[in-house]
Amino acid sequence: MTTRGQRATFVRRDSPEAIYTAMTRYSAIILAAGKGTRMKSHLCKVLHPIAGKPMILYVIDAVRSAGIEKLVVVTGHQADHVRRCLDQDKVECVIQEPQLGTGHAVAAAKGSFSDFRGHVLILCGDTPLIEPQTITDLMGFHGGANSRLTVLTMVLEDPTGYGRIVRDETGRVSRIVEERDADDEEKRIREVNTGIYVADCGLLFSLIEAIRPENAQGEYYLTDMAAEAVRRQIPVHGCVLRESLLAMGVNTRIDLAEASREIWSRRRRRLMLGGVTLLDPESVFVDNEVEVAPDTVIHHTVTLAGKTRIGRDCVIEPGVFIRDSLIGDRVNVLLGSRLDCAVVEDGTSVGPMAHLRPEARIGKNARIGNFVEVKKSVVGDGTKAAHLTYLGDSTIGSDVNIGCGTITCNYDGKKKHRTVIHDGCFIGSDVQFIAPVEIGEGSLIGAGSTITRNVPPGTLAVSRARQKEYPLRRGQGPKPSDEDKKP
Ligand code: UD1
Ligand code: CA
Repeated sequence: MTTRGQRATFVRRDSPEAIYTAMTRYSAIILAAGKGTRMKSHLCKVLHPIAGKPMILYVIDAVRSAGIEKLVVVTGHQADHVRRCLDQDKVECVIQEPQLGTGHAVAAAKGSFSDFRGHVLILCGDTPLIEPQTITDLMGFHGGANSRLTVLTMVLEDPTGYGRIVRDETGRVSRIVEERDADDEEKRIREVNTGIYVADCGLLFSLIEAIRPENAQGEYYLTDMAAEAVRRQIPVHGCVLRESLLAMGVNTRIDLAEASREIWSRRRRRLMLGGVTLLDPESVFVDNEVEVAPDTVIHHTVTLAGKTRIGRDCVIEPGVFIRDSLIGDRVNVLLGSRLDCAVVEDGTSVGPMAHLRPEARIGKNARIGNFVEVKKSVVGDGTKAAHLTYLGDSTIGSDVNIGCGTITCNYDGKKKHRTVIHDGCFIGSDVQFIAPVEIGEGSLIGAGSTITRNVPPGTLAVSRARQKEYPLRRGQGPKPSDEDKKP
């Protein structure tokens, strides 16, 4: 085996490679038509999310950040679904139908390049760890070597599953052999194909035309373009990527977990460098679009998902799950709470064990305490619901005190109804509001009341049966049960 090929090196801006890169037009094809059989999923592979973002979008973002404007995505399996998740204005989609292999997929993009003169990068939609710098370096290498076809390779301890790079005695690539078609000696080669290539556009499509499906899978292998180029005496360059993780391909759920681990780790590093304290980084999972402001402290086992935004000086305690929510500054989200599409303004405390469901909007300096559930409700500034409460379909003013065990009875079995409680009310413990019902400003509701009618402002409302006392005769009082008598 030989891996004597040229290595990817950092390209200086004023180097001949960089100048060549700047002068040459580059475009890209991203292959995303396959089903991803090894994922064993109803969802096509490239749409599987990593940290809340479909895998293929990582590849597209990296290509864009490397400065490439013309980008063609080859879709096939669940094409509509893939197309919907791409930014249609900027990405051109073509269809490969049926899907007869990676070479066949590139051929499906040919029509989009009829007027293009330059070089084409080819990437797979299942390499989410790729970084813009790797793409820039590859283009620099390709230009520097005056190459017409370059394969990005990597050297792995365990090359299982990847196509192997066979080099000739001069160090040039002579062919790429898929694992299924490799003999024992070839299987021992540890330099593998990343599935990322750069080629002169005209040459690329002419090589593709010569590919035949003569292999173990009966597919048109893109990898066969290497041997075809060599047959035409066109040298094929192999550029070795030093950090192999960056080009890992996701084929199975095990690969998905490995790629996710790396992306989450990048997210944590970015947060910490941005001034956020993570007490136990490894156990904090932060999706791609989440933003957290400096000086917020995140304890262990916290998940921040979707488009969540968290302000400054917040404390997020263990076991908290927050999705698509907006959290202001100086907010404490205490142990074991779940917030889903909720808004919590500055200085408020939520939890422990609170549940903010969609459309819960909690104002400033408020308190939503333990075992409190809030759904589709606005809770005003300074209002407190500290214990064991359900607030659903309600509007609660500011500086309201909601006693322990209060429930808005919002559902009559057919429809949901609203409860409105105006500013400054005091609601005793264990009150039920039979909605629709409205409580005027500054009113007081006695503990244990079931409120079925509107209450005017500044009113005391109590609705509970008067207590009576009946003396017990001898022998009528409570007796210990047989169960209690057991030692
Ligand atoms: C491919 C390479 C292999 C390389 C590996 C790197 C081939 C034949 N093999 O293998 O040498 O080591 O990538 O990760 O190219 N696709 C289509 N249309 C198709 C088939 C696939 O668009 O008809 C797309 C898939 O959606 C995927 C990409 O091409 O994004 C790669 O396909 P995959 O089946 O994962 O190829 P590998 O077996 O990993
Ligand atoms: Ca793959």
